[in-house]
Amino acid sequence: MTDLRAIDASEFRALATDAASIYGEAMRRSPEVVVQRRDIITAHVTYRGFVAAGVFDAMSLVGFGYGYQGVPGQWWHDVVAAGLGRDRAKRWLRDGFELAELHVRPDHQGYGDGRRLLDDVLSRANGAHAVLSTPDTESPARHLYRSYGFADLCCDFRFPGSQEAYAIMGVDL
Ligand SMILES: CC(C)(COP(=O)(O)OP(=O)(O)OC[C@H]1O[C@@H](n2cnc3c(N)ncnc32)[C@H](O)[C@@H]1OP(=O)(O)O)[C@@H](O)C(=O)NCCC(=O)NCCS
Repeated sequence: MTDLRAIDASEFRALATDAASIYGEAMRRSPEVVVQRRDIITAHVTYRGFVAAGVFDAMSLVGFGYGYQGVPGQWWHDVVAAGLGRDRAKRWLRDGFELAELHVRPDHQGYGDGRRLLDDVLSRANGAHAVLSTPDTESPARHLYRSYGFADLCCDFRFPGSQEAYAIMGVDL
């Protein structure tokens, strides 16, 4: 039986290595990318409106989700704003909560924790909309986001330095 609870920024900073490791397993990323992700998470906890939740199994983190209120000058915000174009960027990003990460360790997937994490984080998110990027495939994550009401804002989107196609999705909160 897993426990879900809110995690504040300082506790999440202490869990950054565990969270990055779950990200690596869930997304099948290399050890180098996992280390980079840990540093990115450590920066994200300082962002305005940071909201996180974790799922724990016997005190170990096995899943997490978090986001924040994005602002111009942040890498993801600026790249996505350029991709959406001025009008849609204003519509979705000006008062948007950016769901940065949502991952459940592979051996814990399929038991409802991903949906509980998404519900919990978005129920506490500040902003009129939530926006996210996810690999542009028919993945479990895409199904989960669609069932929550997220719609595609942009498909086949490439982030600088990556060949992987992403979808940008958004929902009004
Ligand atoms: C996306 C993810 C967090 C979902 O977590 P989870 O605990 O496995 O999901 P849940 O058991 O709560 O299922 C929630 C919904 O996800 C979808 N889903 C889950 N497994 C699925 C599968 N094998 N095929 C299709 N849809 C699936 C369904 O919509 C499901 O809703 P339902 O139970 O009403 O059918 C998890 O699969 C994961 O970590 N995936 C890899 C990392 C990733 O893609 N993260 C998102 C990056 S943006």
